Amino acid sequence: MKVTVVGAGAVGASCAEYIAIKNFASEVVVLDIKEGYAEGKAMDLMQTASLNGFDTKIVGSTNDYAKTANSDVAVITSGIPRKPGMTREELIGINAGIVKTVSENLIKHSPNVILIVVSNPMDTMTYLVHKTTGLPKHRIIGMGGALDSARFKYRLAEALEAPISDVDGMVIGGHSDTGMVPLTAHATRNSVKVSEFLSKERLEQVAADTKVGGATLTKLLGTSAWYAPGAAVSGMVQAIACDQKKMFPCSTLLEGEYGLNDLCIGVPVILGKNGIEKVVEIELSDAEKSKMQESAAGVSKTNALLDL
Ligand code: LAC
Repeated sequence: MKVTVVGAGAVGASCAEYIAIKNFASEVVVLDIKEGYAEGKAMDLMQTASLNGFDTKIVGSTNDYAKTANSDVAVITSGIPRKPGMTREELIGINAGIVKTVSENLIKHSPNVILIVVSNPMDTMTYLVHKTTGLPKHRIIGMGGALDSARFKYRLAEALEAPISDVDGMVIGGHSDTGMVPLTAHATRNSVKVSEFLSKERLEQVAADTKVGGATLTKLLGTSAWYAPGAAVSGMVQAIACDQKKMFPCSTLLEGEYGLNDLCIGVPVILGKNGIEKVVEIELSDAEKSKMQESAAGVSKTNALLDL
């Protein structure tokens, strides 16, 4: 399994690191436009191999896509991250051009590649890749829900005063401060609904904190987060590499599922060797359905800003 990570910034480097540490890929190529930067990150990471016990070979490349040839999976993290006070949607102008060029270059050298889009505004960037590359939809996957669900579980564990391993929960919808739909009614602690332990108000607080999970970190760090995004991507790449058939909420092109069409938004999917192997349609309450509709309207509004 060969994986390319485009963008050697904090998110890209964290993706490469977690993929390497999990030791399932033979090679990870990290590519960046900044001269020598990806090579430096790759060398530093390779010098952790004997310490962390992995055999994955990490290679850096300054914008030379020939080095990415025949990648099975490629992760697109390139573009600018948000600064405190910015929304993910405000990044569209610069990032759309970058994501379009990067995806075309990747496909040129790896015609069978499965693309994972991380750059923001992620649902719209995933849609852009659909519109501009013509790749089949199972090979274009947006990373948002896996990260937002991890943040949801963190907040649930905090509220429950429970270990995270006791907690399960999922966030669907758009990867934005207003678009996320944390499924609080479905969340469980060791198979018992969390509503048995937490008041309605506390659960609403958990959902609200989850939705601004990225913004909270951007304010604290001065730029957007990287550890949890990197870990979320590595879990998705591993599910594909090891054909795990694991369920993650991912942004995917919907064609009638959940009553939605012609947009990419987060819904549960099965990830395996072919990428998205199935969209899982779960039963939503009327309240959850209307939140999903609102979220979709927000994503479509951002999509309309694309120059397609
Ligand atoms: C975040 C970015 C990766 O939510 O969208 O941290």
